[in-house]
Amino acid sequence: MKIAMIGTGYVGLVSGVCFAELGFETVCIDKQADKIDGLERGVMPIYEHGLEEMVARNFAAGRISFSTDLAGSVADADAVFIAVGTPSDVDGRPDLSAVYAAAREIANAVTGYTVVVNKSTVPVGTGAEVARVIHETNPDADVDVASNPEFLREGQAIGDFMNPDRVLLGVPSPRAGQVLQTIYQPLKDQGAPVIETVRESAEIAKYAANSFLATKITFINQVADLCERAGADVDDVAQAIGLDPRIGSSFLKAGPGYGGSCFPKDTRGFASVARDYGSDQEVVDAVIEANENRKYRMAERIVDAGGGDLRGKTVAVLGLTFKPDTDDMRASPSLVIVPELQRHGAKVRAYCPGGMGNASEMLEGVDFCDGKEDAAHNADVVVVLTDWAEFKQMDLVQIGQRARGNTLIDLRNLFDPQQVLDAGFTYFSVGRPASQAMQGSD
Ligand code: UGA
Repeated sequence: MKIAMIGTGYVGLVSGVCFAELGFETVCIDKQADKIDGLERGVMPIYEHGLEEMVARNFAAGRISFSTDLAGSVADADAVFIAVGTPSDVDGRPDLSAVYAAAREIANAVTGYTVVVNKSTVPVGTGAEVARVIHETNPDADVDVASNPEFLREGQAIGDFMNPDRVLLGVPSPRAGQVLQTIYQPLKDQGAPVIETVRESAEIAKYAANSFLATKITFINQVADLCERAGADVDDVAQAIGLDPRIGSSFLKAGPGYGGSCFPKDTRGFASVARDYGSDQEVVDAVIEANENRKYRMAERIVDAGGGDLRGKTVAVLGLTFKPDTDDMRASPSLVIVPELQRHGAKVRAYCPGGMGNASEMLEGVDFCDGKEDAAHNADVVVVLTDWAEFKQMDLVQIGQRARGNTLIDLRNLFDPQQVLDAGFTYFSVGRPASQAMQGSD
């Protein structure tokens, strides 16, 4: 069994190396020669825990190779996965041109029966369209097109791939199903549930999963607003509702709004593609709007805590990535919040354990600092935007000594309010009582 993986982004590279780790001969293909060069030299285009070691191990064992030659690499593959980017266009619809371009190239290159598998997150109907494009390009191509969406999270991608909650196969024929079942047999042997269904169900399930998770987060963020006003604690509310297994306790952490390369893009893609089918996803539409508004509201909260006018004031921002353990800045709440603070006159000093390189290209006029203590230097307000472990463990007394002001705004509820008050800060967190936060007693 030989596997070709087109696209060495997050999903493609992680899935490719994991297939190699499972024992399959795998070739990862990308048009960007510098990426392929780098990978051959062991330089990873993304930061993901454990990836570099896994690539090195499988490269040394000859199970994984990298190439810019799509046609040559897919020719004798049994399965060709498409894991290219699907960025949003202006209406929020995913731009599938890279998927169809790959399909055309595959059509002319395959020899013998080949299963082409969409791994990119794509709207329902894309598999059928890929099949149409392939057969139009080369009527003789002996190809089935399947859907096998990926559910991995950045920061835990390898673990998620190797130990999945489920493997989802959307297949157009028993023959294609058999090839994919063989590829996933090693994971099945380890107990992974494998769901085989029609292509359209698999395509919808991927969008629906991400939209549902985004809805959960947005829901708890709105509950957090109420908790703040009514003197409740959102973490207790989340625990209380989450213990009902019908609700479940994960993804109920209030924060500054979801970000990343998936939820914002996939919610918009789901809503707009559903509309094309004449099905309004009113819940998801509301989630998209509420999450967008939330980022601006969080900025307002910081401005208010800083006295309403931030001219001449310094805000230390700790954490810029959309979540910890990644260098990914895509759609991070910081990309709205930091410019809003600057618009209100603030000087922003920022530090992020993983995101400094990318952030320096995406945020202007920010003083990027060497560490959290450096960022806090002479700050009037200290803001925690991302829940990196490094911040949870930080010495608040030391941060307080470095700062000029004594306001700590924690948009991830990393701290016990008493601990923060003991360190001398006025503390604003998310969805917790304002009186406790501001005075240290109630
Ligand atoms: C997400 C999904 O969790 C994966 O299952 C999916 O495979 C992936 O998208 C994808 O489609 O490729 P990811 O974007 O890596 O994974 O990040 P998450 O860990 O889901 O976090 C997304 C955002 O939600 C972050 O901004 C995070 O801070 C926020 N979040 C998450 C909350 O605000 N509260 C929570 O309780 C959970």
